[in-house]
Amino acid sequence: MVKRKPIIAGNWKMNLGTVDEAVDLVRKLRPKIGSLKQVDVVLCPPYTVLAALAEILDRSRIMLGAQNMHWEPKGAHTGEISAGMLSGLCEYVIVGHSERRATGSVEETNAAVQKKLAAALEGGLTPILCVGESKSERDAGQTQSVIVEQVSVALGSLSAGDVQRCVLAYEPIWAIGTGAAASPVEANRVIALTIRGSIAKGWGEGLAQSVRVQYGGSVNPENIADFMAMPEIDGALVGGASLTPDFADLVLNAVGG
Ligand code: PGA
Repeated sequence: MVKRKPIIAGNWKMNLGTVDEAVDLVRKLRPKIGSLKQVDVVLCPPYTVLAALAEILDRSRIMLGAQNMHWEPKGAHTGEISAGMLSGLCEYVIVGHSERRATGSVEETNAAVQKKLAAALEGGLTPILCVGESKSERDAGQTQSVIVEQVSVALGSLSAGDVQRCVLAYEPIWAIGTGAAASPVEANRVIALTIRGSIAKGWGEGLAQSVRVQYGGSVNPENIADFMAMPEIDGALVGGASLTPDFADLVLNAVGG
């Protein structure tokens, strides 16, 4: 069996964006989870605090990620940020989060997500590609087709080496921020059949087995171990539960204390 290193990422969304509050939380997390070797820990705060956190996380194993980026390297894109601007500050970038896709903007279509992935990889960042179905898509039995489309378009033209560098996150939209997480068994099945299945179709079973896939949607310190116990789930993308010092417990519970 392929050994995939677990990865737990905290997506702070539009929270803790002042230097004082961000530094305060990270100072509390660092002594507990700053030197873990068996799991990759990534914090994705607002852009405004990346530089300050990069400084205080120097020589810690906790890594940083951004929550979005544009595919162009520079230019007339008001309010956007490029891979080149991020690469000195962080190692990861979330791409295609459902809260961004929900804007319906041309910058968040599957085709745009593909361009962002390619630009992130080109810029030396590790993308965390989010995919997942809405409640109505799930109710209509479209989970599989929606996710196959998201994965195959986004990864579309990437080389096997680049696909291997990506992290994917299965985030059913109905489970995000609702307190109603997917069942671990169901998430495991979608990841195995649909997400790894799509990767296997394009790049072969071996590669599909080597890519890390997280689950996201109402993960907390109490339920994380149940997700980690699933063979296809390699970690979690955590929203609300990443905003307090209890995130350290979540990470520790993920790796068995
Ligand atoms: P949640 O968010 O953990 O608050 O449900 C997850 C996410 O949006 O990545």
